[in-house]
Amino acid sequence: MYYITTAIDYTNALPHIGHAYEKVLADVLARWHRMKGEEVYFLTGVDQHGQKVQQTAEKLGLTPQEHVNNLTAKFKELWERLNISNDGWAETTDPRHKACVQKILANLKDKGELYKKSYKGFYSLRQEQFLTEKEQREDGTFDEEWGEVIELEEENWYFRLSAHAEWLRNFVEKSDSFVLPAFRKAELLNAIDFDSDLCISRPKNRLSWGIELPFDPDFVTYVWFDALINYISFAGYLAEPDSGLPEFEKLWPASCEVIGKDILVPAHGVYWPAMLHAMGFSDEQMPSLLVHGWWNINGNKMSKSLGNVVNPVTLVDMFGPEAVRYYLVRDITTGKDANYDIERLVMLYNTELANDLGNLCNRSINMTRRYCDSVLPVSDYDDEASQALRSSMAETVAKFASYMDDNLTSDALAALNAQVSACNAYIEQQQPWQLAKDENAMPKLACVLRHLLECCAQVGYLIACVLPDASARIISQLNATEIFAEKTPADITWGMLPAMHVINEPAPVFPRILSDEEKEKIAAKAAKNAAKQQKQK
Ligand code: MSP
Repeated sequence: MYYITTAIDYTNALPHIGHAYEKVLADVLARWHRMKGEEVYFLTGVDQHGQKVQQTAEKLGLTPQEHVNNLTAKFKELWERLNISNDGWAETTDPRHKACVQKILANLKDKGELYKKSYKGFYSLRQEQFLTEKEQREDGTFDEEWGEVIELEEENWYFRLSAHAEWLRNFVEKSDSFVLPAFRKAELLNAIDFDSDLCISRPKNRLSWGIELPFDPDFVTYVWFDALINYISFAGYLAEPDSGLPEFEKLWPASCEVIGKDILVPAHGVYWPAMLHAMGFSDEQMPSLLVHGWWNINGNKMSKSLGNVVNPVTLVDMFGPEAVRYYLVRDITTGKDANYDIERLVMLYNTELANDLGNLCNRSINMTRRYCDSVLPVSDYDDEASQALRSSMAETVAKFASYMDDNLTSDALAALNAQVSACNAYIEQQQPWQLAKDENAMPKLACVLRHLLECCAQVGYLIACVLPDASARIISQLNATEIFAEKTPADITWGMLPAMHVINEPAPVFPRILSDEEKEKIAAKAAKNAAKQQKQK
């Protein structure tokens, strides 16, 4: 079982491209593992509790539930438009989740993992947490990221985080799979020198929008203690038999929890494993975290205050879901940051998809139709160039698979593009349109067309995890839907299309994205033609 999850997004503002990237990345990986024939469960969702939600709802004159319902609908709509293939959906106001969080809290309290104490200190209203001396600047003030900081004395419930520090350090040190990519491990190890416990409650008089502590109704639980649990609550942990949730034993541990770099330390790298350990999970039952980088705008963080937040809905409206999906997993190396640039989105789509892959499929199918009546001919002809194309196709399948297994979507796509370029170069070199003029060259023409169609089919099949729609259209034009239906990447060998295979009609799969200038030219030409026709009448 491949159980993949994503961070759950705060329903406090509209989704932006950072949220979209994470969901598309997880979707590509989920689809890839499904293609491999693995059983996959893909969970994503929204994080609906917390102070920020309560405050924004108050400002808008809505109840917190109304406010999160409005925003949750926006996230869901976007994921549908982006063709996100999640099997499960996590909403932290779901009563099944609340029940699970409360059972966990009660169990932890019974085990002595939670205790109540009074604490006086500096509290960040924005981050909803007490700050320590470490966060305080020499002049006694705090960084802007903490927002308004107030002095506060409060009784609260604490989780004995420090009791798990030694275990956690050893576990992280020896595990090669807990944090990926590997360079993030050092960052996490540096953070595990804590000796303080974690405050896991908020008094209701300050924050009511949360899950009530089952043993102390004056408090709700800290939003992270609630949110992290989604990965197990929606996987069926401690669920009622008729909950409609999956069977926990089948899913856990998660094979891949996709999160952004900002929430590795301390939430996912410290709190989460410590919580699981306190609940009684063993080292073998810890999830694996895939930590991705951030999309920046002109080198800056995306933020409301800078007014540079990119709305993915606008992008989907402008370019369609597949162009957006492609860009988001093509122009970033998994784990690293990237700079968002709409011109690169257009450029990558137009060159790699419209010009290269789109043209390759279109030309290959068209030539087969024109020269061979849509029937894939048989021939014994072979030459060096064709042999080279065959072996590079086999290498491409292997490279693509290995990159995808390592979650490196951009490298996997680059490997496919290299093969597409090799195919286009092969067309130029073999000049099938010349061969078609010479009856004696028929065996060679047959060989060339077979090589092209076979490559189109294999590339078209592999790209399904990134571009499910385009892939289905390419495969359908090749009349190969049934041929590939039950196949896994390991089944892909030369000769997927049988002798005398009949292909379907070609149709452009990746229409070029036109610039305003190009659009104007086309419109002017159309107007001119219309005027001409009018005159002729
Ligand atoms: N609600 C918490 C996560 C709880 S998980 C149990 C949260 N929400 S968030 O809405 O702020 O962020 C959701 C995800 O989007 C995080 O993984 C975060 O890293 C990611 N991104 C937010 N901005 C991003 C970019 N600019 N670029 C890429 N991903 C970024 O944190």
